[in-house]
Amino acid sequence: MQKIPEFIPNKDALIIKPQKKNPLVSAMIVLSLLMVCGLYICSICLKQKGFIINPYSMKIRQVQEQCPNPNIPQSEVPYVHYPEPTTYKRNECRCTPVRFFAILSMQRSGSGWFETLLNSHINVSSNGEIFSNKTRRSNMPNITETMDKVYNLDWWSSAAKNECTSAVGFKWMLNQGLLVNHDEIVSYFNRRGVSAILLFRRNLLRRWVSILANNHDRDAKQLNGTHKAHVHSKNDADVLARYKPKINESLLLPTLNQADKWIVDALKYFKSTRHIVLYYEDLVHNSTKLMDVLEFLRLPQRELKTRHVKIHTRPLSEQVENWDAVSNALNGTKFKSFLQSD
Ligand SMILES: *[C@@H]1O[C@H](CO)[C@@H](O)[C@H](O)[C@H]1NC(C)=O
Ligand SMILES: *[C@@H]1O[C@H](CO)[C@@H](O)[C@H](O)[C@H]1NC(C)=O
Ligand SMILES: *[C@@H]1O[C@H](CO)[C@@H](O)[C@H](O)[C@H]1NC(C)=O
Ligand SMILES: *[C@@H]1O[C@H](CO)[C@@H](O)[C@H](O)[C@H]1NC(C)=O
Ligand SMILES: *[C@@H]1O[C@H](CO)[C@@H](O)[C@H](O)[C@H]1NC(C)=O
Ligand SMILES: *[C@@H]1O[C@H](CO)[C@@H](O)[C@H](O)[C@H]1NC(C)=O
Ligand SMILES: *[C@@H]1O[C@H](CO)[C@@H](O)[C@H](O)[C@H]1NC(C)=O
Repeated sequence: MQKIPEFIPNKDALIIKPQKKNPLVSAMIVLSLLMVCGLYICSICLKQKGFIINPYSMKIRQVQEQCPNPNIPQSEVPYVHYPEPTTYKRNECRCTPVRFFAILSMQRSGSGWFETLLNSHINVSSNGEIFSNKTRRSNMPNITETMDKVYNLDWWSSAAKNECTSAVGFKWMLNQGLLVNHDEIVSYFNRRGVSAILLFRRNLLRRWVSILANNHDRDAKQLNGTHKAHVHSKNDADVLARYKPKINESLLLPTLNQADKWIVDALKYFKSTRHIVLYYEDLVHNSTKLMDVLEFLRLPQRELKTRHVKIHTRPLSEQVENWDAVSNALNGTKFKSFLQSD
């Protein structure tokens, strides 16, 4: 930040009188007036956000001139990108427009299942939970650097389809530096035209049961001595579902309240981004919702597939060890509907 020079012209000096006596003094006065004016104009410009020349928008404009696409409506232009990876060339797909997205979710809310569905689309690269790595999310510059790499199509994962990808993104859990750095992340999303896919689970009690069962399996390794967070067969699902967690009643309400608050906060913070809100239960019961996501990412509609098999399919009352205590604890609270619903 530049400092305002200490010499500030006083009232008299502002009235420029012909000062024949000392031309050096009057030259100085004019010069300092110009400086003050310049600083003032600069400070006004800086306050008006749009004025700062954004290197991304310059680059986008350049590439867009090389890849004219009159079919893209003006309102969509901020969300259409032509990345130029540093590690390879996009070749014939150089002018295939790319949309940026991020799946914002919470553990055990169906995001793993959802991401495999998306990745079964030939034009989607969703690169997994890249911020489960603590170094990458340890500070905002690291987060930015990591996202830049993903959106520049320079990120390598088993999901990366690179050259001809037309939607690229990753999965991000709310507790992986996302809520903590929400201000900067929202402004990154808005600056770079990233679309947010918020995916939550309505029934937070079912989510909690899934978390406890998954934690248990981490130690118990019920499938032939290996821990599985997701399974691909009905048989494996049945093995994992046999375990019935005992829920600590005194922790139940605080836990549900906490999860509920995170969702409310995320919805509030990301309201200003281009976004879609999805609930796991709706996606499971209504296949049209998945097509809504493809439409949101402006992808051609096609059938999406996954090998994931749902683990807990029975009524909750059969999947919790101390069901009576749990239903007592939730009876009369705002979470009581979780006891009955899917
Ligand atoms: C989807 O990917 C295929 C294969 O790479 C490519 O031919 C096609 O142009 C892509 N479609 C879109 C809309 O990007
Ligand atoms: C975490 O991320 C850093 C930076 O991308 C990388 O060097 C490191 O290998 C990663 N750690 C693990 C365990 O993947
Ligand atoms: C992230 O930050 C740490 C220090 O906080 C640093 O050691 C690391 O190299 C940074 N970069 C990445 C890509 O993780
Ligand atoms: C575990 O072992 C049984 C028989 O030994 C086999 O049928 C089953 O597929 C194995 N499951 C996994 C997840 O490896
Ligand atoms: C339930 O949680 C409370 C608070 O953390 C703890 O004091 C108590 O020991 C726990 N009860 C059981 C049975 O684990
Ligand atoms: C399924 O989803 C579509 C698209 O969001 C919606 O219009 C429709 O009403 C839903 N159907 C049911 C039965 O909820
Ligand atoms: C919930 O509480 C009400 C009154 O407090 C009681 O009549 C009802 O039986 C309770 N329901 C369950 C499922 O425990």
